[in-house]
Amino acid sequence: MNRVSGDSQSALSIRDRGLRRHGSHSDRLKSVRNATTAGLWVLLLGGCQGELSVFSTSGDAAADIAWVTWVMLLGTGLFLVAMSALGLHAALRKSSAPVGPSGRSIIIGGGVLLPLIVTALLLVQGVRTGHSMLPLGPAELEVRITAHQWWWQVEYSGPGGAPLYTANELHLPVDRKVDIHVTSHDVIHSFWVPNLGGKIDALPGRVNTIRLQPRKIARMRGRCAEFCGAQHTHMAFEVEVHETADFRAFLDNLAAAGPEQTQSSGQTAFRQHCAECHSLDPHEQRSGPGLATLPERQWLGAGALRNSSEGLRQWIAEHRSLKPGNRMPDHSALDAETIEALARFLEERP
Ligand code: CUA
Repeated sequence: MNRVSGDSQSALSIRDRGLRRHGSHSDRLKSVRNATTAGLWVLLLGGCQGELSVFSTSGDAAADIAWVTWVMLLGTGLFLVAMSALGLHAALRKSSAPVGPSGRSIIIGGGVLLPLIVTALLLVQGVRTGHSMLPLGPAELEVRITAHQWWWQVEYSGPGGAPLYTANELHLPVDRKVDIHVTSHDVIHSFWVPNLGGKIDALPGRVNTIRLQPRKIARMRGRCAEFCGAQHTHMAFEVEVHETADFRAFLDNLAAAGPEQTQSSGQTAFRQHCAECHSLDPHEQRSGPGLATLPERQWLGAGALRNSSEGLRQWIAEHRSLKPGNRMPDHSALDAETIEALARFLEERP
């Protein structure tokens, strides 16, 4: 009963082929459209600017990296447009007779020569860019950075060479060659200031060095660029580039800072609850972030929340929920009075 005559069978298969052909035609159109939209988004996002953007360059290495990025972005964009045009042409044309260069010359030209030339040119520029971040020749300033889960210890050589410690902020002089020596206290992190240069891994037991040369007086941000645990997101730091004289003044001020000798209830609370891990004295290194420059910092908890009067109180009381997994002991047992005294002590230090 289900027998189909030869004629109707061929009619069916012709219609079936037609449907299939129609389907693949619209599929091809759809994929061309998707690829074009994706390409446009990439170009639009390339316009992103800001203190964490690789396109807002404030240093030599970052400018080189941005140049390679633009060349690759525009090159691949052009390639995408060309391939989309060819795909569209193939999808819309009626005749199936072959046109244009032979298959062999397409394979040799587009499959062998083009990638060889493009990768060779990118290799030359990539090596040049990588070279600009190597610590070649003497540096004018050296800073040692130790990554921790999840904060950054920053160490300068103070006047006389004694180490000075701060945390989660990096101050640099403009136009100077700065070598940043990066290591880690625990797991692998990655130090990155997108406005200034590339990334460098922070590895436990090893010191890696990246050279940065800021070219603009600016504030920007840096962050950890290697997944390092639950609070990888809150492992940011502030960067401020100063005139050379201002940078010297910053270091002199830091060197002159020391522990407070007042006898306030805030200081008593600090000694009791904080001083085992945090120091207010930049000459001392403790297991937690140094707080010598806390009042001037923009952020708390390595980017967890803004440093403000309200933010500081919230951070002391609720750091466990703001940055779950951080090593600071729970403060939920502290009464409001103690938190207030602590916060006032921390923000009023000169
Ligand atoms: Cu440290 Cu991610």
